[in-house]
Amino acid sequence: MKATAIANTNIALVKYWGKEDKKLILPQNSSISLTLDGLNTVTTVEFSKKYKRDIFILNNRKIKEGDEFEKVVRHLDLIRKMAQIKEKAKIVSKNNFPTAAGLASSASGFAALSLAGTRAAGIDLDLKELSILARQGSGSATRSCQGGFVKWLKGEKGDGSDSYAIQIAPPEHWPEFRIIATIVSTRAKKISSRVAMALTLKTCPMYKSWLETIEEDLEKIKKGILEKDFSLVGKTAEFNCLKLHAVMMTTKPALIYWRPETLRIIQAVLAWREEGLKSYFTIDAGPQVKVICLEKDLPEIKRRLKKIKEVKKIIISKPGNEPKVIESHLF
Ligand code: PMV
Repeated sequence: MKATAIANTNIALVKYWGKEDKKLILPQNSSISLTLDGLNTVTTVEFSKKYKRDIFILNNRKIKEGDEFEKVVRHLDLIRKMAQIKEKAKIVSKNNFPTAAGLASSASGFAALSLAGTRAAGIDLDLKELSILARQGSGSATRSCQGGFVKWLKGEKGDGSDSYAIQIAPPEHWPEFRIIATIVSTRAKKISSRVAMALTLKTCPMYKSWLETIEEDLEKIKKGILEKDFSLVGKTAEFNCLKLHAVMMTTKPALIYWRPETLRIIQAVLAWREEGLKSYFTIDAGPQVKVICLEKDLPEIKRRLKKIKEVKKIIISKPGNEPKVIESHLF
């Protein structure tokens, strides 16, 4: 009753912001992302009678209580219920990218936990079922259950059975696509995205227009991906990100994730584009900027990013695969 899985994180090109159902994690809007090659979580799960309680070790640190622990135990309870088993589990999990990168470790984390957990419990889910399970741990984890360019369908049903991830195009469709995560600040997030989203729904007067214009963004990005129209994907993703931050900033209390360094990179990207160097930006609930570009422009963009003193580190990624079971266990 032991299994290990690896799952990549993802970056949203059309963001998810706001829950319709907090318990099942059903989103207010569909979203589209890219699964990121090589930025992953490896997780080993073992169910056994020898464990008196669930044990969770993340990045070599034992987590015994608190929100992170509760979420993992709740997820194991879902798996135990599906498999009709009672055994407690030991979970060892490792991310290979820094938490400060502003890349969602909960996305790769819950995708890997869902796959390792179900296999350890003797259940074999397809990717659709896996994404429905992962979704209940973290919204963005839904999308990490597919490879390449992915859409998380909002769904209509109250039970969440039609809110899952589908693949728009596999990684091989557009292998030249690149995401550069820049790290400008390593301060911890003050407010979780779960709390932030709830505040937006309650207080933001702009949220209505966010929802009203989301279909248009989803359509454009999908078309851009299928036709490999880089400008269309880039400008739509950037505009969607700016709308998200307008919504965040007009939430009460204001959710201002940008720092001076964030704006410094935004302005650099805009200036490069004026010069004809094709690059776009996207930003999640944090200060880090992700630069979107094609492989051919990577050397020049890297060279320019390295000259910006606020940029402490960069991490480059390309389209990656869906989660997989692997043989080498972490314990
Ligand atoms: O599912 P969470 O709690 O990781 O929230 C994700 C929120 C954003 O990263 C801002 C947007 C997104 O779609 O990933």
